[in-house]
Amino acid sequence: MAENESLVRMLKIAGYSEKAIDYYLKKVNVGVIEEVSPESFTGLCGDSMQIFLKVENGVIKDAKFQAIGCAGAFASGSAVTEMVKGKTLEEAEKITEEDVVNALGSLPKPKFHCARLAVDALKKSLEKYRQVRN
Ligand code: FES
Repeated sequence: MAENESLVRMLKIAGYSEKAIDYYLKKVNVGVIEEVSPESFTGLCGDSMQIFLKVENGVIKDAKFQAIGCAGAFASGSAVTEMVKGKTLEEAEKITEEDVVNALGSLPKPKFHCARLAVDALKKSLEKYRQVRN
């Protein structure tokens, strides 16, 4: 069995959706946007995430993230950075952990806090972008 195939199988058995697996394996939106350096957020599990935004006229045009974390953290980081594109800072603020899990399709229940990490990192980041804007 190829290495990736075995990993995909494990992720499926663990309860990750196809979309979450795809995001995790392709590392969708992993990267940095140089303009502003928002603070990272560290969750109770010890994993951290930093979310970068490109904001034009109050609208999020692009989003990237860096994370030290699990498959759930990477899938959630990808989901949240996809979800904020085209939203205003105020609209992005309303995204919840449940929205992230729903956008992914499914995450293993014990991994819901990874979606929380992405949402909390987003809130931390939005705080910074609001300061820059004012
Ligand atoms: Fe820490 Fe997933 S275990 S974010």
